[in-house]
Amino acid sequence: MCGIVGYIGHRKAVPVLLHGLQRLEYRGYDSAGIAVLDENKKQIIIEKQVGKVKDLQEYLWGKDINGSIGIAHTRWATHGPPSIENAHPHISKSGTIAVVHNGIIENYASLKEMLINKGYTFKSQTDTEVIAHLIEDLYDGNLLNTVLKVAKQLEGAYAIGVISTLEPDKIIGLRKGSPLIVGLGEGENFIASDIPAILEYTKKFITLDDEEIAVLTKDKVEIYDINGDKKEKKPFTVNWDIAAAEKGGYKHFMLKEIYEQPRTITDTLAGFFSNLDNPVFRQLDKIQNIVIIACGTSYHAGLVGKFWIEKYVKIPVIVDYASEFRYRDFPVSDKTLIIAISQSGETADTRFAAIDARRKGAKVLSIVNVVGSSLSRESDYVLYTYCGPEIGVAATKTFTAQLITLLLFALKSGLESGNITASEFEEYHKKLNHLPVLINEVLKEDKIIEEISYKYHNAKDFLFLGRGLNYPIAFEGALKLKEISYIHAEGYPAGEMKHGPIALIDENLPVVCLAPKDSLYEKMISNIQEVKARKGIVITLTDSEDKEIKELSNEAIKIPSVSDENLYPIVLSVPLQLLAYHIAVILGKDVDQPRNLAKTVTVE
Ligand code: M6R
Repeated sequence: MCGIVGYIGHRKAVPVLLHGLQRLEYRGYDSAGIAVLDENKKQIIIEKQVGKVKDLQEYLWGKDINGSIGIAHTRWATHGPPSIENAHPHISKSGTIAVVHNGIIENYASLKEMLINKGYTFKSQTDTEVIAHLIEDLYDGNLLNTVLKVAKQLEGAYAIGVISTLEPDKIIGLRKGSPLIVGLGEGENFIASDIPAILEYTKKFITLDDEEIAVLTKDKVEIYDINGDKKEKKPFTVNWDIAAAEKGGYKHFMLKEIYEQPRTITDTLAGFFSNLDNPVFRQLDKIQNIVIIACGTSYHAGLVGKFWIEKYVKIPVIVDYASEFRYRDFPVSDKTLIIAISQSGETADTRFAAIDARRKGAKVLSIVNVVGSSLSRESDYVLYTYCGPEIGVAATKTFTAQLITLLLFALKSGLESGNITASEFEEYHKKLNHLPVLINEVLKEDKIIEEISYKYHNAKDFLFLGRGLNYPIAFEGALKLKEISYIHAEGYPAGEMKHGPIALIDENLPVVCLAPKDSLYEKMISNIQEVKARKGIVITLTDSEDKEIKELSNEAIKIPSVSDENLYPIVLSVPLQLLAYHIAVILGKDVDQPRNLAKTVTVE
């Protein structure tokens, strides 16, 4: 959470910083601020605003800030509510050092007390302000050495950016647990939390690893380890351009990303099939149990993955919330495969649970979208989902890509372990290749879904029901709706409804029923009957033409028939994304940046 960007070069820093912040806003949007060295490099100018980057931009309009070295921050509040005082950058007592920070300093309270005893006063409630004062307190005439000393005193996971009038021709960036990349330009260099922030200016990057520190001047970047020893790091070039991170005519990123799915599915399939020799497939004979760990939407993908892996690989699978798994004594051994699923590859809960399990001897396979992200580098094996940047806070295209990757992982592992034949595997390949066509069919239902959204957007609660492979999709439909529309919604396995949630049903409750014509269709119909008998509003998603389901449905969203029931979870996800999207838009909610959320959750 929180986005950092820093610039040193030949341009005016403010527009570069503001552009960068806009692209990082998905990481938090409670307040934003910049710190720029003035033209004479004698003073640090700090400007902050509560709210979004556009509020800061409007506030800065017409202000003449000409410096070309600066750092900036967009905040997702952890310590202290959104306010000007708590907004970053934070400045040291004498005004000589400014700091931006992403992450949490766990021992900030004791450091604060120590600094107060030394005469420092604090203007904010943040943990970050201690870093600025501590650098000032320990400054020994060498900013790099001082930041290294400070790093040894800070506990927690964080990334920081530092500028100072004491050594005005540099920016220092330090990574310990939270992401930070360096962008390499001609006569200019950058730091940022993520690539899109600076993709307009360069395509050449270095990813900092944990406990690495970068010293940027206009013409040079040097990387050191935490002991101050210089390191050589090879830059990499990204091949996607900034258009991939723009709305491209759509009203919201979320809508664009929903509509991108036929393409992202094609890319995910192509990516997987170009990587069939991934070493993970040669390890399966050593594996006795699999644990899938993830959070939020990625966790829901894991719940579906369990069905496929158990069916095709015939190894028992447990799926757990990463935040829970990390703190329970689950026995792992070198015969355990952890599958850590994360779009961003930066989710702290997932990363640290995977790191712990790996330390105990387990092998870790990560399924990640962001290439080069922390989790991908902390794993034994990686499968990428090849979706390009996902900017909307609500995960959409990356969810369907995670499902496809899990299905393909199960099928390929099934092939390797002799549970399915080469021709069966090839047959699945063909069926999956047809998915983009099916998703285009679903997208044609958009208008009907919008009309249904108009009818029910005032409902106070929603229930989502599914069975078998599709009950996790009911969970996901409910999560999508609640996170962007703020309507209370619950997902339930339909067969479990009678054990409690059925009490919620009355004539005001829309119940979204996932009723594909699969092997559990008849059971699902019985559950829909139960809803109907209690006057619930039945909204079905089905490819069935049966009279019975038509009569039971107050509303019906048509999904295409599929050649294999494994494809239903993917096909059913898309109308649920559209339903949540339209309801949120009708309610006037901020679809791409819902309140209290951040795209990348880098705190525990
Ligand atoms: O980047 P990750 O996949 O690890 O993120 C996990 C969750 O934070 C994420 O899926 C979250 O639930 C989304 N906002 C859901 O739309």
